[in-house]
Amino acid sequence: MSIAVVGSNMVDLISYITRMPAEGETVEAPDFRMGCGGKGANQAVTCSRLGSTVTMVTRVGNDLFADTTIRNFEDNGISTAHVLRTEATSGVAPIFVDPDSKNSIIIVKGANAHLSPSDVDAAREDIARCSLIMLQLEVPLETVYHTIELGNELGIPVLLNPAPASPELRLDRIPGAEFVMPNETELSLLSGMPVEDREDVEKAAQVLLASGIRNVIVTLGSKGALWVHEGGSTMVDAHRVDAVDTTGAGDAFIGCFAHTWVETGDIERSMRTARLYAADSVTRHGTQSSYAQGEEFRARFAEQLAEV
Ligand code: RIB
Repeated sequence: MSIAVVGSNMVDLISYITRMPAEGETVEAPDFRMGCGGKGANQAVTCSRLGSTVTMVTRVGNDLFADTTIRNFEDNGISTAHVLRTEATSGVAPIFVDPDSKNSIIIVKGANAHLSPSDVDAAREDIARCSLIMLQLEVPLETVYHTIELGNELGIPVLLNPAPASPELRLDRIPGAEFVMPNETELSLLSGMPVEDREDVEKAAQVLLASGIRNVIVTLGSKGALWVHEGGSTMVDAHRVDAVDTTGAGDAFIGCFAHTWVETGDIERSMRTARLYAADSVTRHGTQSSYAQGEEFRARFAEQLAEV
């Protein structure tokens, strides 16, 4: 099972706050953690920890964070043949987690903003050996569009997580994607329709299907995820846990979904497995630091996994 991730990496600077400061105010936060993040890297690490062979196409800067990120890819068994150095700062993400475990994230793309279509072409041979290409929106849109075209040309399914929400993302430039996995806000922006309840989600997802996307899987946070496809829709409820930090849970869901789908080809089973992996991640602090290793995950959820 080989997966190519063409996407971002960030260093996450997570402050656990009691409240956000008002303008001009300084408030003290009780705790802080630093760790590796970025939507692309998070999804890549999840796939690799679960057992996929992962090629990461990304750009790091020319600073200490770059060394940390490269070492992290190596430690997680991810190929760094296409992790490129750039004369820029590395991507960073100051993150604020409130006492209800909800997060607010700022991203500074840094080197990620320099990932180009020609960087993707340089990785073509390795990408061509993969069974799935994964994309998010923390790298330039032209690179995303180019990678989708490459996937279509090579006959490799593409999974696009259109996050963070971008008003510039054009539906007519992402035809043929096997999976688009937005949250409600991203779906609303992409479809141009309001998304308040399940009926709205289904109508908005139909707009995406009509544009040539095969499967739309909408992540609904603590409610679960809804798969909308030509034949109808399927809801998978979230697995209930006591959350301490929800940062990166969406990436854990998408990464686990991708790994399981490549392994089994079964969309519902992949969603039901991913809901367990994502729920498990929110019971620990941090982003990638909250993602279980494959063996640990399979042992912890042996009973539930037997029934997915
Ligand atoms: O989805 C969570 C991720 O968003 C964080 O790791 C942060 O780096 C931002 O990319």
